[in-house]
Amino acid sequence: MKALTFKRYGKADQLAFIDTPRPTPKPDEILVQVHAAGLNPIDNMIPQGAFKPILRFQLPATLGSDLAGVVVEVGNRVTRFKPGDEIFASIFDLGTGALAEFAVVPETAAALKPPNLDFVQAASIPMVALTSWQALNERARLKPGQKVFIPAGSGGIGTFAIQLAKYLGATVGTTTSSGNVDLVRSLGADDVVDYNKQQFETVLRDYDAVLGTIRGDAIEKSLGILKGGSTIVSLIGPPDAAFARARGMNFFMVFLFGLLSRKIIRGAGKRGAEYSFLFVHPDGGQLSQIAEILKSGHIRPVIDKVFPFAQAKDALGYLAKGRAKGKVVVQMR
Ligand SMILES: NC(=O)c1ccc[n+]([C@@H]2O[C@H](COP(=O)([O-])OP(=O)(O)OC[C@H]3O[C@@H](n4cnc5c(N)ncnc54)[C@H](OP(=O)(O)O)[C@@H]3O)[C@@H](O)[C@H]2O)c1
Repeated sequence: MKALTFKRYGKADQLAFIDTPRPTPKPDEILVQVHAAGLNPIDNMIPQGAFKPILRFQLPATLGSDLAGVVVEVGNRVTRFKPGDEIFASIFDLGTGALAEFAVVPETAAALKPPNLDFVQAASIPMVALTSWQALNERARLKPGQKVFIPAGSGGIGTFAIQLAKYLGATVGTTTSSGNVDLVRSLGADDVVDYNKQQFETVLRDYDAVLGTIRGDAIEKSLGILKGGSTIVSLIGPPDAAFARARGMNFFMVFLFGLLSRKIIRGAGKRGAEYSFLFVHPDGGQLSQIAEILKSGHIRPVIDKVFPFAQAKDALGYLAKGRAKGKVVVQMR
């Protein structure tokens, strides 16, 4: 089968299509014929080596975190899936890759594809949906009537997180460029700040939660829009000591991440806010709950561009420009 792999860490020109044997599922895994793979910024960062201290890959490694496809084989301990089932999954951080004709997926990471979505739409969902769910539901415990600030509303995370926050009954503030104002409004955003015209910290007030999605000083600036008892969940760092401990890192890394996050934790504390860093984890149970919401039509996939598998490197290059409106997806079949 064909797979897009990287042989060593470095520049994007390390990426190459190779012919490799079809993987064999372990007893608790399913083998999936991949119909589409959704891309995420981390798929560009991994081969560059940005996550070398955190994620372990056996090189050459297949790239790609999200997929949708059809089960062709199941391990002998699998109970929830059978050949022919249409599934979607995030296999991020599980040591296997989605940018291939076939992929092994642990049973615990997969969920049945919502029947109202095609494979391309379903592949666009897993990582952004799980990240939004884990940030807004689990960490921020967003309640109806609360206000959440989700910057970069037009990105992969933003387009899903805005809709999930609205589904949870929250009021949503976001930032975007002039050309994407209508898009984020159509997703339900209430307070839309056009960053070409205004600074969000001068307009937004009394927020209960912030999702950290943009590098630079956006998180520090967002301290000013929070009220007491609020929550900051950062997707982009700085990582904190709790994250290092949860991943079983050594004392030095716990200390280092504690140091890196000290300033923002203190700044948040002065506002009566709590800061934490979130690193998404695959979860088929949560994805099944998300599938039900998608089935009900309350949340819709937002797809910017679809590339054929042969152009997967161009798709990664397009995403790396940082201007995608929603998701970029690679189609295998
Ligand atoms: N920690 C985790 O587990 C986790 C999980 C998923 C993602 N992430 C991270 O979260 C970040 C967002 O991911 P993503 O998938 O949403 O990325 P993305 O889809 O590549 O984001 C692109 C979007 O960002 C918008 N944007 C860029 N700069 C902006 C700015 N200064 N203000 C407002 N909007 C801006 C762009 O809109 P305009 O063209 O309108 O500017 C574009 O629509 C990435 O850094 C990613 O690595 C982390």
